[in-house]
Amino acid sequence: MSEKLRLGVNIDHVATVRNARGGGDPDPVRAALMAEAAGADGITAHLREDRRHIVDADIEALMAQLSVPLNFEMAATDEMQAIALRHKPHAVCIVPEKREERTTEGGLDVVADDNRLATYIAPLRAAGSRISLFIGADRAQIDASKRVGAEVVELHSGAYCDFHHEGKLAERDAELAALREASTYAHGIGLEVHIGHGLTFDTVGPVAAIPEVRELNIGHFLIGEAIFQGLGPAMAEMRRRMDLGRAGA
Ligand code: PXP
Repeated sequence: MSEKLRLGVNIDHVATVRNARGGGDPDPVRAALMAEAAGADGITAHLREDRRHIVDADIEALMAQLSVPLNFEMAATDEMQAIALRHKPHAVCIVPEKREERTTEGGLDVVADDNRLATYIAPLRAAGSRISLFIGADRAQIDASKRVGAEVVELHSGAYCDFHHEGKLAERDAELAALREASTYAHGIGLEVHIGHGLTFDTVGPVAAIPEVRELNIGHFLIGEAIFQGLGPAMAEMRRRMDLGRAGA
């Protein structure tokens, strides 16, 4: 049942570096095209409300230039819905957003926001985008995601990765077990399962080994590693480790 595992490359951090200085360099669209040429199955870009990294013109350019699917990450606001409806990206991944956070720290509370999200998602689906909800490994959140009309859940791997890098191995293994259990459950009720956040060369294998997972979305580590070995080689090494994990090595 273990289908091909897709690698989605998140190019937000190229835009973070560009925006630190102002001007146009480095260009995240160029990075996206390089990632595509190096075998990315999709590109992820998060247009945050405060435009701290990706800006509207990047989304325009990505939509115009990419051949692989764009996974447009956004918060569930009216402004973002209008932008998504204008561009009709292949996928829309809805994430929680807090201005003060450095990155997306937790998953969405779909259970609490159930009615509103169902109404919010309906026109996006009607426009042809696949809707993915970024959630924790929790059955109630998975059930609610299905109820509101999502076709995909992306499970948050941040805690698993943090525990690994802090050397808290029992906690890490518990998080990994939760990701496994949630993947099986979500797949069982007909949702496609993606995983993302915080993944590195050291943490990707066990996640890639979960047979129900169809896609990993990886950004910060890959873009950082690209400084040392280039984006293509960094992606090739990530892909090698994903394949090894998938094969059960
Ligand atoms: N998936 C989602 C939904 C995210 O919000 C992020 C971070 O923007 C990622 C994947 C990628 O996480 P990282 O940059 O830590 O690899």
